[in-house]
Amino acid sequence: MSDTEPSRLANVLKTFQAPPRTGLLDPDYDGLEFKWKMFVLRPALFKWDLVGLALIVVYVLWSFVGSRWNKSIADKWSNHWREVINKQVAVVNVFKNSPTYADGPTDFLTYASGRRGMQRLYTHVHTRPRHDIFQQLFNLGWSLVDFGADSADNVTLTAKLTPGAGGQDVGFVYALIKKSKMANLRKNRFDLGLTRTINDCDDFTADFAPMAEVHALNSSFVKSGLTGLPETVKEAGAFLNWLIISDQPAEKPSKGPLKPEEKERVIELNLRIPSDVTKLTPFIMLVFNLIDAIHLQKLSLNADTLRRLQKNRLELDSALAKEYAKQLEDEEEERTGKTAEERKRIAKKAIEDAKYEKMSNEDRRKYEEKERKKNMRKNQPKPKMKR
Ligand SMILES: *[C@@H]1O[C@H](CO)[C@@H](O)[C@H](O)[C@H]1NC(C)=O
Ligand SMILES: *[C@@H]1O[C@H](CO)[C@@H](O)[C@H](O)[C@H]1NC(C)=O
Repeated sequence: MSDTEPSRLANVLKTFQAPPRTGLLDPDYDGLEFKWKMFVLRPALFKWDLVGLALIVVYVLWSFVGSRWNKSIADKWSNHWREVINKQVAVVNVFKNSPTYADGPTDFLTYASGRRGMQRLYTHVHTRPRHDIFQQLFNLGWSLVDFGADSADNVTLTAKLTPGAGGQDVGFVYALIKKSKMANLRKNRFDLGLTRTINDCDDFTADFAPMAEVHALNSSFVKSGLTGLPETVKEAGAFLNWLIISDQPAEKPSKGPLKPEEKERVIELNLRIPSDVTKLTPFIMLVFNLIDAIHLQKLSLNADTLRRLQKNRLELDSALAKEYAKQLEDEEEERTGKTAEERKRIAKKAIEDAKYEKMSNEDRRKYEEKERKKNMRKNQPKPKMKR
């Protein structure tokens, strides 16, 4: 029995072995044959090798063409963007030898700065993973499962505004979001938690949901001729995925409220990129209009509204601070295995012990006497109250 085992194994192994290449020198070979000087290639004998090689070549070519394609989309956007904003900003871009900065095969950045009301303005082009055939197939499959998934080429414009001047210049959160993008954004953006959807607002088409922290913001942003928002959306709303104006972080701060110097006011727009990028011009101009409206305080928010906004910020910060303190407390409890009260008692005892160490003998005697009396009093049965 023991000698049949190895032979069975050998049989199994044999089936995994590549079949021997027969016919390399077979004079009767009648398949396709390439001949060059002393070299002879008989493709039929290398069928699977050739298929493998062809697949690799296709993959590499695909990857190359896809990357080029993505870059050309980003460059087209960047060149147009630059032309439009040239008169608005002092510095635009830039990067050596390219209109964009490539951050991987699907992500491209552009940059501008130097204008009243803003510190900097950058755009981030997200293109489809054209360089990666497998990722594309995966996305295709995923889009059949998750209808919210959208891998269309898009660009995010982000303007970082100059910090609020204080006083009347209070931050706020306002957003206009395409309804199909709502669920995802709501889940991921902390700042939107401060807003409420303005229902039955007929100033935008039914595709969009305006969201405002206070109702007064609704009135300011739908007023015609003020920020240009309703006009722009009417003209080119088909390309808008969302607009968010916010002075709060997109991600929930994990260590208590942000410090004043970490806080940022931003205007963020996400746009689908059409093949004709000039269709996005109105949105580029909208960014500057919004910057001006905020910087020059043209939104005409009244004193009540400003107080509300201020109060919201104080409350949010204190809620974050409390949450963080609780989290630290829980961590400490987990680490030491003791609750805050126990830790406090232990610390107090340690202080008493240290004091005792330093006492003279006379003082120690007095101290012990005092402790003894205290304990006796504690252990005495309490006199019953008479009714
Ligand atoms: C923007 O494009 C990226 C890359 O294809 C994609 O993952 C993302 O979902 C797109 N965003 C929107 C809002 O379409
Ligand atoms: C939003 O503001 C506009 C203009 O003031 C007003 O007509 C509209 O009723 C407001 N919408 C809501 C839901 O308050």
